[in-house]
Amino acid sequence: MPENVTVYVNDLPVTVPTGATVAVAVMLSSNVCRTSVSGEPRAPLCAMGACFECRVEINEVRHLRSCQVACEPQMKIKVGR
Ligand code: FES
Repeated sequence: MPENVTVYVNDLPVTVPTGATVAVAVMLSSNVCRTSVSGEPRAPLCAMGACFECRVEINEVRHLRSCQVACEPQMKIKVGR
């Protein structure tokens, strides 16, 4: 198993350790996960799947909790929406 995995956050490559969650990749990319309906930036809060603040789009599937999904090679993540 490789030590690192490269994913794409808003089309830019981010390399994380194998087993890291998508939330880690988003934080390393210096992005927020999404914006609220009032336009405020939202980011992971609980890191255990309870708060839903970390929702992102992964491989064209919207509203997935980034703290609950492990990064896979070439995964395409869209954030800040
Ligand atoms: S950080 Fe709370 S659900 Fe992901």
